[in-house]
Amino acid sequence: MEKNKAAKTPQTRGSFSGRIGYVLAMAGSAVGLGNIWRFPYLAAKYGGGIFLLVYLVLVVTFGYTLLVSETALGRMTKKSPVGAFQRFGNTKALRFGGWINAIIPMLIVPYYSVIGGWVLKYLFEYVKGNAAVLAQDGYFTTFIGSSATVEFWFLAFSALVFLTILAGVENGVERVSKILMPLLIILAVFVAAYSVSRPGALEGVKYFLVPNFKDFSLMTIVAAMGQMFYSLSIAMGILYTYGSYLGKDVDIEKSTMQIEVFDTGIALLAGLMIIPAVFAFSGGDMDTLQAGPSLTFITLPKIFASMGFGTAVGIAFFLMFFFAALTSAISLLETCVSTLEDELHWKRGKCCILMAVVMFAMGTASSFGYGIWGGIRILGMQILDFFDFITNSIMMPIAAITTCFLILKVVGLDKIDEEMELSSGFKRKHLYHFFMKYMAPACIVAILLSSIASALGWISM
Ligand code: PFF
Repeated sequence: MEKNKAAKTPQTRGSFSGRIGYVLAMAGSAVGLGNIWRFPYLAAKYGGGIFLLVYLVLVVTFGYTLLVSETALGRMTKKSPVGAFQRFGNTKALRFGGWINAIIPMLIVPYYSVIGGWVLKYLFEYVKGNAAVLAQDGYFTTFIGSSATVEFWFLAFSALVFLTILAGVENGVERVSKILMPLLIILAVFVAAYSVSRPGALEGVKYFLVPNFKDFSLMTIVAAMGQMFYSLSIAMGILYTYGSYLGKDVDIEKSTMQIEVFDTGIALLAGLMIIPAVFAFSGGDMDTLQAGPSLTFITLPKIFASMGFGTAVGIAFFLMFFFAALTSAISLLETCVSTLEDELHWKRGKCCILMAVVMFAMGTASSFGYGIWGGIRILGMQILDFFDFITNSIMMPIAAITTCFLILKVVGLDKIDEEMELSSGFKRKHLYHFFMKYMAPACIVAILLSSIASALGWISM
């Protein structure tokens, strides 16, 4: 059966050159907007050190379980999500599971690239020496309201993503990650060191790192769980796809741990860049810290402008932010293109053209959604916010449930063990089984219900 399918595929499947290439590409996927703007403000909002502690526990347990599951299924089947699910049968449930995992990145990559365009625009302005302009009141709102400008930067960012994908898995995705990820770490360490050394910043470091149990609430767990999904690129088909490019000799257990360390390390550094700087700037005002997404595009430029070397720090920060967004967008688009290659049996170039049309249409809608199409509301949300909500809050938990269903009810845990044991001793097998059977389904349902409750306004997140 495998042979038949392979014969229908027009070219041989791409692959990573080895473990380092895979780990850096997957770390490139995981480290993204989520680490840099989402993690710091959630940590600030949901208890600082205690949020961090809960987050770390979830990453090494629940997160580890889902990462291993998707990667092992991808490598076992050598297919992107749709093919991976259908390898085990052609029932309605399996078709649904495959397609929901595959459609999520198709919905995310257009709006993610619009935000990537915002980052590119800010980087460009810093390089031009316009740090003071970016810090002006109302700059961000005026910018995202200028539809033609936003569209231009969205297209510029998307062009870079497509060029990488067209170059292939090893020459494009892997090579770009191998160059950008080490640079990203250097920039992150530099900006974090600068931020924590500002006068008054130490209070922020303490709030961020030292757990205080009185700041704990149920929402700490719910928010940490949602963030873990987002940050590790779980339930969006990426791990299936990257797993399918993985050699049978690559140790999935070890690679998964390294990806987790990378992703969490950058999230920690992002917290150290942002929380202490905001503490120093605002004198510890919690409202400023909890401003949410606007923290990065509104508050930070003000902070950079008010401190020494603002332009240099601004360039370093937005360059790092740009690298993070670019490598994540690459992984999202690679998953879409790979699904189309597997399912339509078209050449990569033709699949890229189809995705370019999808991305142009949906990305333009998101670009214009804060400007000339500002009047349009879907479920009361602006277009970009709607895509973000429907994917992250509704579809991703459902996609994760389908993966649990596939493993527990169809494939069987023993088959996953076999796949893992091809390349490692699978030391955390018992933890994996426990989480897969008892914790993962319950945690995922909790995420889904809390997202719906929050959307309906029953709880505030
Ligand atoms: N894990 C990446 C990030 O943290 O930004 C990629 C990503 C996550 C993209 C979630 C999109 C998304 F909805």
